[in-house]
Amino acid sequence: MKLLSVPDYQTLSLKAAEIVARQVRQKPNSILGLATGSTPLGCYNELVRLHKEEGLDFSAITTFNLDEYYGLKENDRNSYHYYMNHYFFDHININKASTHIPNSLPQDMTSECQAYDQLARDMGGMDLQILGLGTTGHIAFNEPDSTFHPFTRLVNLDKSTMAANGHFFKTNEAVPHQAVTVGMRFILNSRLILLLVSSDKKAEALERTLNGPIDPMVPASILQLHPNVIIIADAEARSKL
Ligand code: GLP
Repeated sequence: MKLLSVPDYQTLSLKAAEIVARQVRQKPNSILGLATGSTPLGCYNELVRLHKEEGLDFSAITTFNLDEYYGLKENDRNSYHYYMNHYFFDHININKASTHIPNSLPQDMTSECQAYDQLARDMGGMDLQILGLGTTGHIAFNEPDSTFHPFTRLVNLDKSTMAANGHFFKTNEAVPHQAVTVGMRFILNSRLILLLVSSDKKAEALERTLNGPIDPMVPASILQLHPNVIIIADAEARSKL
């Protein structure tokens, strides 16, 4: 894993956007794996600016998101469908039919999860996958567990994750208890992984991801097995290294 040390969140966002933009320019029909949460917001803002001011072209790009809260309607302001449209897709020239996000209200959970994995695999996997890091060490919504789970599925969220994500909701009680998330096979199948880590709240999780044993209780530690991971971490996030 290659660690890119940056001073602060602003620099992290610009650096991440620079790497994504390079990928889009080099391969205009790239498949991008996208994350939600607070951390990638600055990167999406900068990509929108690059589109508007420098003509960065997303018209042939395909995207897959990592996860979605279970049970929220797509137009719910807290759904990741809403998030992606609001912060990114509505401001660039992407073909919405080429954007994929796990369904939050599937009629048949098992078959829709299998279909999501199958579609990503049939398209050859992600060229570039953006990841954030949970305070629990989670990636996507793969929470600490006794095993690494390979496939897309419905999961229960940790109490600490629900609390950490509560600021997006009116009350902490409104945070869904479950989510649909891709598994480790989807993530590890990406050709390049960009892990974005900001703030001292993530310092311990980053230290264990980088230096700890590969342990399903620290889900991100599995990234040690991937040959092409770039971690962009600001000074606060690196405070325990
Ligand atoms: C959320 C998302 C993850 C995200 C992580 C960190 O729960 N499901 O994909 O990377 O938690 O979120 P944040 O960037 O807000 O700290």
